[in-house]
Amino acid sequence: MDKILAPSILSADFGRLAEAVRAVDLAGAQYIHIDVMDGAFVPSISFGMPVIRSIRPVTNKVFDVHLMIEDPDRYLAEFADCGADIITVHAEACRHLDRSVQKIHELGKKAGVALNPATPLSAVEWVLPQIDLLLIMSVNPGFGGQSFIPYSLVKLREAREMIRQTGRAIDLEVDGGVKQSNAKEILAAGANVLVAGSAVFKGDAAANAEAFLELMGGRK
Ligand code: DX5
Ligand code: ZN
Repeated sequence: MDKILAPSILSADFGRLAEAVRAVDLAGAQYIHIDVMDGAFVPSISFGMPVIRSIRPVTNKVFDVHLMIEDPDRYLAEFADCGADIITVHAEACRHLDRSVQKIHELGKKAGVALNPATPLSAVEWVLPQIDLLLIMSVNPGFGGQSFIPYSLVKLREAREMIRQTGRAIDLEVDGGVKQSNAKEILAAGANVLVAGSAVFKGDAAANAEAFLELMGGRK
C-alpha cells in the first residue's frame, strides 16, 4: 500500500488556512485531513462546509474529511458537495452504519469508517469489504495535541490482518498523537495513512511535512 501523509488542518492557523494547505501540498502531502466536530459527538466544535468549500480551490489533493458528528447521514450530501473526496463517519455515531456507507458511495465518494479507541474492531467487521478506508483513532477524538494511546499499535496490527483477509486495498489510517518519533513503529504495525496535526502545523509546516515524508520512505 502507498504510504500517505494526511496533515490535519485542525492545528493550522485558521487566519491563514489557504497558505497552510498550500504549504503541505507543495511539500508532497497526498491527503488533506479535515476534522469536522459538532460539539455533541465530541466536546469541541471546529468548522463545517463553508470552510471546506473555501479551501477547495487551493489544492487538488485528496480531501479526507473526518466527521466527528452525530448522525452524519443528515449532512453527507452537503459534505460531498463542498469538496470531500473521502468521507469518514464514526461507527459509534451511525445507527445504521451499512446505510451510511452506501449513501457515501451513492454520492460518488470514497467511504471511511472510524473507530474510537475503546471500540472493538468487530464493530466494522461486516462493512469492511465495502469501505475504502478504516480509521483507527489513537486518541479520544475531540482535540489536537494529545498523546498516542500505546494499545493502538495492537489494534492496527489486527486491523491490517482483517483488511488483508478481504483481499481489497483498503487504506488503514491512524489519527491522534502521530509524531516523527513514533511514525516508524506505527507504519510497521500496518498503518499506511498517517494523520498528523500538531506535528505538522506547529512550527514550519512545509519542513515538518517533508521530514515526515522522508521517514515514510521518500517523497513522491
Ligand atoms: C482529533 C482529530 C485529529 C487531530 C490530530 O480528534 O481527529 O485529526 O487533528 O491531532 P494531533 O496530530 O495533534 O494529535
Ligand atoms: Zn481526524
